[in-house]
Amino acid sequence: MVSIMSRRKSGHPIVAFGPLTWDERDERVARQGPPEIEVAGVVKDYPLGATTVRALDDIAITVAPGEFVSLVGPSGCGKSTLLRIVAGLEEPTAGRVTVGGGGRRLGASGYMPQRDMLLPWRTVLDNVTLPLEYRGVPRGAARRAGAALLEEFGLGGFEGAWPAALSGGMRQRAALARTVLTGSRALLLDEPFGALDALTRLDMQEWLLGVWTRLGATVLLVTHNLEEALYLSDRVYVMAARPGRVVAEVPVALPRPRPAEIVATPYFAALKGHLLGLIRASRDRPLAPDHTLERRL
Ligand SMILES: Nc1ncnc2c1ncn2[C@@H]1O[C@H](COP(=O)(O)OP(=O)(O)O)[C@@H](O)[C@H]1O
Ligand SMILES: [Mg+2]
Repeated sequence: MVSIMSRRKSGHPIVAFGPLTWDERDERVARQGPPEIEVAGVVKDYPLGATTVRALDDIAITVAPGEFVSLVGPSGCGKSTLLRIVAGLEEPTAGRVTVGGGGRRLGASGYMPQRDMLLPWRTVLDNVTLPLEYRGVPRGAARRAGAALLEEFGLGGFEGAWPAALSGGMRQRAALARTVLTGSRALLLDEPFGALDALTRLDMQEWLLGVWTRLGATVLLVTHNLEEALYLSDRVYVMAARPGRVVAEVPVALPRPRPAEIVATPYFAALKGHLLGLIRASRDRPLAPDHTLERRL
């Protein structure tokens, strides 16, 4: 049951699979008010010798307040670049990005880079309280807030430990605690579980859904793992490479809360096959070389 519904504003199609119709989805998102994250017409070119390489081409995405949205696509399609632009760490060559309705992006979201970036010379607690230090929160208050969140994230007792002493899953939870303490509602997570073994990854995904629900956060997550994207998200944007672009938007009509076993249901498997088909189709599309490389004037 595949239905292709053309989108009014952006160029990419919305390709629903299953019971959720365009109208239902539209209504559900519309009820949530204006988008927390909006990316419109974003282009990013990087210099490459005498030419430029187009890393992102005419990207249009939105994330509603409280929504969980994923970006999936092959390595090199520009997922990390897009997230850094939303975080305000890079400027787009063209286009517009707003976070929380404001013009200033830097500091408007909590950004977790692809590597956890915990500082090895600071204890877990001192790593987690960094964003509070930057904001000038007094040390005692920062440490109390940090310790409380570590406790909530299952890291109680590890406040004084060095990052090197933590397992991969614990490091990611510490990194996420630091991201949450930025105080931003919008969380930008770049492959947070990429380095974890499969079982730890499943535990962490389930845990992240719990955190997202409790915090009422808005999440934009990058992953190349289709199952992870479907299990976690309300919607998935499928990206393709050279140039990096959005080829489809897929609403995920799975009920919440989602038990981990939902990935074993026939509907989930069908959704995954649907996503895989979209990625294959976009990869097999002939490339337009003049679209990816432009001679610099
Ligand atoms: N700072 C940079 N300078 C030049 N090219 C870059 C830079 N950052 C990313 N790119 C290029 O942009 C493309 C997208 O990269 P990236 O966003 O890391 O993809 P992904 O995260 O999807 O794997 C790649 O072709 C990469 O080589
Ligand atoms: Mg990346």
